[in-house]
Amino acid sequence: MEEELLGIKNNAVSLILDTNDPKELEEIKLQFLGRSGQLTQTIKQLPKIDPERRKEIGILANDVKETIENALKQQELRIKNQESGERMQKIDVSNPGIKPPLGHLHLITEAISEITNIFERIGFGRVRYPEVDWDWYAFGALNFPEGHPARDDWETFFIDQEPHSKYGPMLLTPHTSNGQIREMENNKPPIKMLNLNKCYRRQSDVSHVPMFHQFEGLAIDENLSIVNLKGVLDYFVKSYFGEKRSARIRPYHFEFTEPSFEIDVSCGVCGGLGCKLCKEGWLEMGGAGMVHPNVLKNTGIDPNKYNGFAFGWGVERVLMMKEGIEIDDLRLLYSNKLEFLEQF
Ligand code: PHE
Repeated sequence: MEEELLGIKNNAVSLILDTNDPKELEEIKLQFLGRSGQLTQTIKQLPKIDPERRKEIGILANDVKETIENALKQQELRIKNQESGERMQKIDVSNPGIKPPLGHLHLITEAISEITNIFERIGFGRVRYPEVDWDWYAFGALNFPEGHPARDDWETFFIDQEPHSKYGPMLLTPHTSNGQIREMENNKPPIKMLNLNKCYRRQSDVSHVPMFHQFEGLAIDENLSIVNLKGVLDYFVKSYFGEKRSARIRPYHFEFTEPSFEIDVSCGVCGGLGCKLCKEGWLEMGGAGMVHPNVLKNTGIDPNKYNGFAFGWGVERVLMMKEGIEIDDLRLLYSNKLEFLEQF
């Protein structure tokens, strides 16, 4: 029996090493290890062996089985590697490659860098002031009387924490105008800045998202006037929306500017004639105005010597106005839905 087992082992291993064909390898496996295979049959004879030698032969039989199994595995691997090696050799390097799919930045990220570039060219460098700030910076120093309900207009999220003894409650900035105060507190005129940041308001429906972006411009110097504001506005509108678009200013009210305006941009779809998107030919872009003397005072700037203008517009809003698109549900912008994002 010993000899028989060793014979099986040698025979099997040499057959295994001789083949390069995975099918043949499978047949060899059956021939030896299958239910009616040679080794299986031999092992079945074990009980007939003299009990004294049974253990020894049993160990040998196991050993033979393992050797055959290992040889099968290794040969299988070798055949596989060889096949892929052959395939590699068949690659024609002069064939054109397969282009990996190329994504693009999120459309809001693209709009942010475009807006930033436009303002940088006329000296309004981008800064980023806190998105979580005290009431003083978002309202108080901006000339909102203490406890005045005008704060409600901005649908502010308040943070659940002990109010600051001087600066009041902590909140998520509902506009980027806190950047005006932070900038004037830290710098002496002349000042020119663009605070582009996230803002938060208690609003969520098809045309509002609770987190959105604004860009806040501020210029402080001697003898600035509405003409300068209008110049910057026109420059932005032509650069961002295109030469054919124009801007107009309308009287409005903000606590922190005097006089205050709302800015409209002519509709890109109908060219100002009036259509389904704009109704009357103009689309509302956001607020602006001449910085209120109290705001200057609150940050230690002398309103008798300096004045300036400020504006705050929404990134999502200008983007939609530029494309002439009406996104059915603005929340799609932040939904990570590729079917939506890939259209741009
Ligand atoms: N902060 C105002 C808003 O969010 C916009 C604004 C900015 C108005 C600067 C005037 C000056 O509506």
